[in-house]
Amino acid sequence: MTATGKPVIGVIGGTGHLGGALAGRWCQAGYRVVIGSRDAERARAAAAAHAPANGGAVSGASNREAAREATVVVVAVPFASQEATLAEIRDEVAGKLVVDTTVPLVPPKVMRVQLPPEGSAAVRAQALLGEAATVVSAFHNVAAHRLATGEPVDCDVLVFGEKREARERVVELAHAVGLRGLHAGSLANSAAAEALTSILIFINKHYSADGAGLRITGDLKSGAG
Ligand SMILES: NC(=O)c1ccc[n+]([C@@H]2O[C@H](COP(=O)([O-])OP(=O)(O)OC[C@H]3O[C@@H](n4cnc5c(N)ncnc54)[C@H](OP(=O)(O)O)[C@@H]3O)[C@@H](O)[C@H]2O)c1
Repeated sequence: MTATGKPVIGVIGGTGHLGGALAGRWCQAGYRVVIGSRDAERARAAAAAHAPANGGAVSGASNREAAREATVVVVAVPFASQEATLAEIRDEVAGKLVVDTTVPLVPPKVMRVQLPPEGSAAVRAQALLGEAATVVSAFHNVAAHRLATGEPVDCDVLVFGEKREARERVVELAHAVGLRGLHAGSLANSAAAEALTSILIFINKHYSADGAGLRITGDLKSGAG
């Protein structure tokens, strides 16, 4: 935790599309962010590309070091590397909140829903990290390149996890990047948002859309349920 009361956010895979866009927005919102990479030098170069504001700060480190320094660890790596990446940081995330953004896309058929045997990538993440870490999954349906522009992004963020308090922390992190986060139930429910990403990719292609997003409609009462 920093003097501002905000958590230090480690972004594992923060050199990539989604992690980089999230890291940029969080450091603009005044968070201290540590970008992680398999290559610490690449992470430092990525950190130098961001312009923190409002008291925020950004640095680069190896994935393991980023997880160690952080109080909240965001995992933004391809599904194919989820297992190896979580194994690398597992010892560093005990007692911490881990925000898993993994969508189980299996190239080349990324427009086809292909969920893992565990049911969802989020359930898989919790199993791989063990119960010492608290996994919440989110950000599955946000187009990274839209987030990277700094412009408003027309998309809600469905937030999944077993603990309401942990989900609420991620709802706040979504708000910090300019998105509405919504409590959406358990990690098993994450399957729906993970699957929806393949559908959004299909819609992007079929309708020549540039980053179709998700909106939940209805008069949602704040804090109800
Ligand atoms: N892109 C989107 O619009 C979007 C939206 C919603 C959700 N997601 C999900 O977010 C996750 C990240 O997506 P992305 O598009 O940001 O991915 P990405 O840019 O392709 O990769 C992110 C980072 O992961 C690391 N990485 C790549 N291949 C790896 C490997 N084989 N082993 C270990 N690390 C590897 C790389 O970091 P280093 O080389 O620096 O280690 C890379 O910069 C995915 O699960 C994706 O489905 C993406």
